Formats: sequence, structure tokens, C-alpha cells
Amino acid sequence: MKAFILVGGFGTRLRPLTMFKPKSVVDFVNKPILEYQIEALSKVGVKEVVLGMGFQKESLLAFTEQLEKKYNVKIVCSIEDKPLGVAAPMKLAEKYLVTDNPEGLFFLVNSDVITDFKFDEMKKVQKEKDCLGVMCVTKVKDPSRYGVVAFDEQTNMIKSFHEKPKVFVGDCINAGIYLFQTKLLDRLSLSPPTSMVTFLEDLVKEKQFFTYVLPEYWMDIGVPVDFLEGQKLHMAFMRKQNDAALAKGENIIGNVVIHPTATVDPSAVLGPDVVIGEKCVIKAGARIKNSSIFAGATVDKSAVIDTSIVSWQSTVGAWARLDSLTVIAEECQIAPEVYLQGALVLPNKSVSHSIHKKGTVVM
Ligand code: GDD
Ligand code: MG
Repeated sequence: MKAFILVGGFGTRLRPLTMFKPKSVVDFVNKPILEYQIEALSKVGVKEVVLGMGFQKESLLAFTEQLEKKYNVKIVCSIEDKPLGVAAPMKLAEKYLVTDNPEGLFFLVNSDVITDFKFDEMKKVQKEKDCLGVMCVTKVKDPSRYGVVAFDEQTNMIKSFHEKPKVFVGDCINAGIYLFQTKLLDRLSLSPPTSMVTFLEDLVKEKQFFTYVLPEYWMDIGVPVDFLEGQKLHMAFMRKQNDAALAKGENIIGNVVIHPTATVDPSAVLGPDVVIGEKCVIKAGARIKNSSIFAGATVDKSAVIDTSIVSWQSTVGAWARLDSLTVIAEECQIAPEVYLQGALVLPNKSVSHSIHKKGTVVM
């Protein structure tokens, strides 16, 4: 069995975290998001994963060898010299997907989605319906940002598909996880690149396309607010599974993950919904909630971080305050006592004044 993961695109909506890195290698609960997909695929016996990549491929290539060893899968990179969207990259990778694939099936996964992946269940649906494709779907509060799917609740057959509809047509959406027969690749073209909407709509017309309704949490982490919401849902799922990786202690509130190499002063209070990354240093009296602190970052004494992301190797000074979806890119310095409300700080910047206007970009 093979799989194709879409790791291209510019990740513009997750900037400034994606200025120098693709979305798929941004740390999500201390692992690049891509690793969750590869891990889940390896558990259902996928032996070869093809990554469809373009922009910033170097940071991905540096990481694939590690993943191959850790999960015992072969990782093949299919490199686009210009962005092909989300359907045509499969055509570019056709030779990898069809060779040595007697089942004639492959999974397609968007690299920016997190869920309790149910690849085995998708295979069961495909077998039972003997269909050309299966799409995972889930319910969301704001369907206008996704592909909305209408399907027969009895048979699960998809009746219509509407990409990012302007008017409400339903709240069940395409979760960006599919199982397809390899013969469908014959329908795709590279020039001009076939659009995903055309590809999916054609399948719907043939009545050969069925849903699998995800039973657990789901989130596309492609914008900061959803990144933090996804982190929260993921940790709640870890709690449900009694995951030993959740932190315990008098200074911990709710769900918190602390990397074993991080140093957290016992007087710092963390949680709910906080992730502290590899080799982070959290000093005395710091207060962090609903936030993610990426590898190598330092939070100085009595700083307060709420609903914000502090990324790789950045420093937040003593008594500083970050809130309202402030996002700090890599290697930034936030001076002591500065207050940032919803600021977006680009890589390598030093910030020494407070910002109160949400969405201000520091560049
Ligand atoms: N290889 C490659 N090439 N990958 C790409 C390209 C490209 O040119 N453009 C985007 N991607 C990757 C992204 O990295 C992401 O993993 C995936 O394709 C989907 O692209 P997004 O840009 O994140 O799409 P979206 O979130 O707006 O919408 C899609 O996903 C939703 C679920 O999260 C659609 O398929 C919606 O229908 C769906 O609901
Ligand atoms: Mg997305």
C-alpha cells in the first residue's frame, strides 16, 4: 500500500512561522505535523510514502531520512518546479504510486490536518462499496473555509461537493484525507494542471465516491488560531487515551506537554493547553496558557503568554506579556516588560516597544 502527502504550497496563512519552513515541518505538539501522518500510515502497513513538494524543499529533505528510519517506511520525494495545486501533484508522482502496488489503491493526505487518522476504516469502506474513492469528512462550525460535502446518510454516497462556498450548503466538510484507486491518475493532467475541484466533482457525478465520517477531533492547522485549537483538541485526545506524555505537577493546569529536555522552573504556572518544546527554558514566575513554545525558546521571569506562539530559539523578556494570538517567528528577542497584543513578529527581529493593534506585522 502506498500514500501520497501534499507538502507543497507556501503556507501563507501560517506566516510568520512558515517564512523559512513549509507548514508540514512546523512543530505541532513537539513533532513536525507531517510526522503524525507518516506514523499513522506506517501503522496500517503503508511501506512507501511519496511527498509532493516544491517550495522550501530543503528543510523537508533534511528530515525525511530520519522519518524513514523511525517508521520503517520508504519516503520518495516528488519535486514540483512550480506549484501544481492539490490534484496535479499526484500525476507528477504517478510512476511511484502505480509501481509495485498490486492493490491499486493509495491514500492522499493534506499535510496540514491532524486527527486520529483512521486509514484502516477507510480501506474497509472502499472494500465494502467497491468504489473509486473514499473521502474523510467531519463537521465544523465555519464550513465556508473548506470544501463542503453533501452525502446520503444511509449509504454514505457523496451527492455534491462545494469548495469554499459563499452561502451555507451544509456543515460537513472534506477533511483532506482520501483513498483512491490508482487508475484515477489517468484522469489527471499536468499541463494545464487539473484542479482538485474538477477531479472531485467528476467522481461525485459517477456515484463512485463515498464518505468516511471521522469519529474523533479534526483540525486543519493552517492558520494560527486553528493551530492552537488543533493543539488543544489533540491534547484532549491524548488525555482520553491516558497518554503518559501529558505533564503532571502542582504548577500544571489541565493539558500540558513538556518536552523531556526542557527546563521549567517549579514556580512557573503552565496550562491549560500548553506545549513546551525541546530544550526550552521557562523561568521563575512565568505564566503560560493556551500557547505553544517551540524548541529552543526561552521565557524569562514572570513573563505572561496567553493564546500565542513563540517559535524556535526566540526569547521573551522578563515581565513581558504576549496575548491575543501573538506569533513570534524564529530567533526573535522580545524585550523585558513589552506588551504584544496580536502582533506577528517576523524572523530575527528584536522588539523593544509594546504593540496594541492586533495584526501588526513587525518586519
Ligand atoms: N505538492 C503541493 N503542491 N502541495 C500543495 C500545493 C502545491 O502546489 N498547494 C498546497 N499544497 C498542500 C498544502 O501544503 C496542504 O497540505 C494541502 O495541499 C491543501 O492545501 P491548503 O492550501 O491547505 O488547502 P485548504 O486547507 O485551503 O483546502 C483544502 O483542504 C481542506 C481541508 O483542510 C481543500 O481540499 C478543502 O476542500 C478541504 O476542506
Ligand atoms: Mg489547509
